Amino acid sequence: MREGTVLVTGGAGYIGSHAVLALLDAGWQVVVVDNLVTGFDWAVDPRAKLVVANIADDDKVRAAIREHGVIAIMHFAGSVVVPESVSDPLKYYRNNTAASRSLIESAVAEGVKHFIFSSTAATYGIPEVVPVREDSPKQPINPYGMSKLMTEIMLKDVAAAHPINYAALRYFNVAGADPQGRSGQSTAGATHLIKIAAEAATGKRGHVSVFGTDFDTPDGTGVRDYIHVSDLAAAHVDALDLLIARPSENHTMNAGYGRGFSVLQVLDAVDRVTNLTIERKLEGRRAGDPDALVADNSAILAALPWRPKHDDLEGIVKDALAWERKLAERQG
Ligand code: UFG
Repeated sequence: MREGTVLVTGGAGYIGSHAVLALLDAGWQVVVVDNLVTGFDWAVDPRAKLVVANIADDDKVRAAIREHGVIAIMHFAGSVVVPESVSDPLKYYRNNTAASRSLIESAVAEGVKHFIFSSTAATYGIPEVVPVREDSPKQPINPYGMSKLMTEIMLKDVAAAHPINYAALRYFNVAGADPQGRSGQSTAGATHLIKIAAEAATGKRGHVSVFGTDFDTPDGTGVRDYIHVSDLAAAHVDALDLLIARPSENHTMNAGYGRGFSVLQVLDAVDRVTNLTIERKLEGRRAGDPDALVADNSAILAALPWRPKHDDLEGIVKDALAWERKLAERQG
């Protein structure tokens, strides 16, 4: 058992629930704060304590910090649908930027020492150079990316003024599910490619649309850096150890594998894993999709002992499919 408790916001959601598992497996005590708007109480491991509350509810958050002796916050809660952020930007500036401001204020007021933030490659916008480095220009092309970048900026200023340090992890394309089948991506209305392909493979949808075939990539379809959610969760646990060991340092790091796969390569992997042929419908580009988005991950590899354990596209697809089947049973 480690000393102290980690508060995980959004711990009932996709990535947060995997971080909860990784923390518990590493011996941490965990308290989850989640309003269950998109998360599920059953997704929270019973070893963790669940507080159903909005992260901007200062009284409840501060009480949870005090009651559980919280030494660090991992902050996953927020809204994550890019097109929705374009049609309803104020929702994103409320749920991501303003709510994070409240949470950070609670952390500072209660003397929480470490803060780990779930940021995104969307902070780069359309990168000029790929693989993209952390010091590349930050030019988000949608309010989602901007709402996360604004939180990074707040953290930088707050860490300079108060005794708290932080790590911001910029996620690339998160996919897959806990290899032990304890959690996975459960939110309905998914837009992410591997989740959609898993739904198609399990009969929940008839085909997969391929958005754009004229990108500047080897086969013309979009290239992304798919990272297994359990590897991503493990990176958070290592980042916490780093923040504790080096209280004067802050770290902003890409979280990706540094290699990309095209949409067609992903769908071919799904076919190989399932022995099916998923129907592909070739369609036009989605607004704002870059040709390729791949992490330069040298910073995270240098800063953390973390090394990917699930860097295998077929393995990611297998875990996503296993979870999709479990979800289908749960939903009858
Ligand atoms: N795609 C399809 N068909 C689909 C869904 C996606 O062809 O049905 C393609 C997209 O065009 C893209 C690739 O598959 O080329 C991956 O798309 P996703 O929607 O799975 O992921 P994105 O790369 O668009 O989004 C990810 C994160 C976002 C983040 C964004 C930019 O999920 O949170 O990267 O960093 F904002």
